[in-house]
Amino acid sequence: MTGPVTQPQHPGGNLPAAGRTETGGGQWPAGGPDLRDRPPGPEARAAILEVSGIETCYGETQVLFGVSINVGHGEVVALLGPSGAGKTTTLRSILGLSPARAGTIRFDGRDITRDATHEIARLGVGWVPDDRRIFPTLSVARNLAIARKRTRFRSWSLDDMFGIFSALEHLMERECENLSGGEMQMVAISRALLGSPGLVLFDEPSQGLAPKVVQDVMAAVSRLREAGISALVVEQNAATALQVSDRVYVLDHGRVVHEGKANRLLSDDGLRVRLLGI
Ligand SMILES: Nc1ncnc2c1ncn2[C@@H]1O[C@H](COP(=O)(O)OP(=O)(O)O)[C@@H](O)[C@H]1O
Ligand SMILES: [Mg+2]
Repeated sequence: MTGPVTQPQHPGGNLPAAGRTETGGGQWPAGGPDLRDRPPGPEARAAILEVSGIETCYGETQVLFGVSINVGHGEVVALLGPSGAGKTTTLRSILGLSPARAGTIRFDGRDITRDATHEIARLGVGWVPDDRRIFPTLSVARNLAIARKRTRFRSWSLDDMFGIFSALEHLMERECENLSGGEMQMVAISRALLGSPGLVLFDEPSQGLAPKVVQDVMAAVSRLREAGISALVVEQNAATALQVSDRVYVLDHGRVVHEGKANRLLSDDGLRVRLLGI
């Protein structure tokens, strides 16, 4: 790989300088730009998410060693690798839950490396956690109502959710503790979308689900892509994830050991067996 673009780089480097002094030296003013109220500049269109060389620790134990991952606008990217490789930690670092000790994370043209989790969510990073994290004693309707927020990205309605998950409409009054695993996952994904994300981080979305539900979940990922929303999909179920992804990264022991097109990894038996053991 060629490494991520960490600073705005314009082809030829000869963009007119007048009125664009903030990009002139490739350096933003102190504090970084706030792009929320402006259309994204060319540097933001390069990738919606740029993770550059992050190092993340739990206490004294380092878990990520210079991880770099890009997700383009409207792109679905799979993040694969064995258990313990650092996939969840990568998502937690993006979300500010386990902040990176070194390296940078940019979302939608803005440096979010040191931002608080609620600020990152408000900018439009959605999360479907591996343990779903639905409020168990609240109804589905209530769980979804409290998830709603506006960002600069597309807003989704409840009717949109019913279009993606036809069963959801009939679950609205149910308490979440009475839902099946598949139903809970529908709520978790709907909750993420109702927060108007530009990027959704999925952590093992197919885990523990029946094959039919896995297909529904992957169809939802494909719908996101059709709507121009980006996704980073962590999966143990590599074959399933590769089928809905444009590109793939493979993590091992906290390092990226492969980056490439998803369909190439799907079709290259030798490479797949070597990297994923399947
Ligand atoms: N809260 C934590 N405290 C200490 N170590 C952790 C914690 N969470 C994960 N780890 C360790 O970090 C490494 C990466 O874990 P994780 O990111 O969950 O991997 P993956 O999601 O790829 O299975 C593992 O060695 C795991 O034991
Ligand atoms: Mg994990």
